[in-house]
Amino acid sequence: MATAAARPAVLLRRAAALKRGVAAACPEHVQLSRSFSAAHQAQSQSQRASATNPDYAIPNPSRPTHFGFETVTEAEKRERVAGVFTNVAESYDRMNDMMSFGWHRVWKDYFVSSLNPGFSPLTSGPDPRVPQHILDIAGGTGDIAFRMLHTAHAVNGNPDVRVTISDINPAMLSVGKQRSRTLPASQQAALSFVEANAEDLTKTKPLGMSLSPTTPTSPPVNNSTTATSSIPDNSIDLYTVAFGIRNFSNIPAALREAYRVLKPGGVFACLEFSKADKYPILNALYKEWSFRAIPLIGQLVAGDRDSYQYLVESIERFPSQEEFRDMIADAGFVVSGANGGYEDLTGGVAAIHKGMKPRDA
Ligand SMILES: C[S@@+](CC[C@H](N)C(=O)[O-])C[C@H]1O[C@@H](n2cnc3c(N)ncnc32)[C@H](O)[C@@H]1O
Repeated sequence: MATAAARPAVLLRRAAALKRGVAAACPEHVQLSRSFSAAHQAQSQSQRASATNPDYAIPNPSRPTHFGFETVTEAEKRERVAGVFTNVAESYDRMNDMMSFGWHRVWKDYFVSSLNPGFSPLTSGPDPRVPQHILDIAGGTGDIAFRMLHTAHAVNGNPDVRVTISDINPAMLSVGKQRSRTLPASQQAALSFVEANAEDLTKTKPLGMSLSPTTPTSPPVNNSTTATSSIPDNSIDLYTVAFGIRNFSNIPAALREAYRVLKPGGVFACLEFSKADKYPILNALYKEWSFRAIPLIGQLVAGDRDSYQYLVESIERFPSQEEFRDMIADAGFVVSGANGGYEDLTGGVAAIHKGMKPRDA
């Protein structure tokens, strides 16, 4: 782990040296840096090519993918990601505040206010407060879903908005369910929790209290008897995913499912860590913090260095804003807009991507 943590720092020092002009003074280095950007371009093209291949959007347990900086199969990634979030579920909210100095709250508030749930200016009638069904995928402990309900019910005065929180991990959902007990009763009534893999929303099951490994007082239940059901085609008005999609084994498969379940005119919205490389100093500080401090805080606060090492590596491996925007477009969404289909937050440390399922789909 120490070696893995040190590697990005070495790369950063090399990049800084290149920027200081060492490369310009040495033709060999110029050549090296040109071949690096050619290799990066080739890698982006192949990532894009695999995303546009329809076969790639079908989950395949033995297909290679990555888990942080390691190459693993899709099935192994799913298992290891499950292990990470089961380990961090109890400390997840506290750690989020410590790792981001509370910034994740600002990003989430902004994300939700930009979507303005409960208010649809595009309705033909006089009242824009139409019923809405929001699906919060990889919803974890509920941060996005709770904000959605608050904005829709309390700010926009629209009680006809319901939110389904869906996550593959029952431990995360159980923490969310406990937290939801402090919401007003009307908001609790508009909330439901389901277990599902975002890559296949044809198999979801309601979260029973008994599924939670974090509630030891619950009676044991045989999960295999729990009936599964499908999220129907064209049934969702707004699909959100915050800080979840980089953990998926097969992102094109998840985008294909998002497209399937959204109504024509429905919106896909994603908040995710991204690339801050337009601002080299911010980027360098951010990477130092991520690779040096976060795994250490994970070890000291949550007693789990490896899970937090994975979280920072997974951020590094996630596609750039433009690559991810193109993947969303390849799934069939309309991604045009003033910002080219995405919006950087805090210089690109995080970004919001949005896409609309065509109205004539
Ligand atoms: C970093 S947490 C984000 C939780 C929440 N959205 C938030 O913003 O606080 C990532 C979540 O993604 C979930 N996840 C990972 N892989 C998934 C998959 N294939 N399908 C659904 N959820 C998944 C994890 O279980 C975890 O709860």
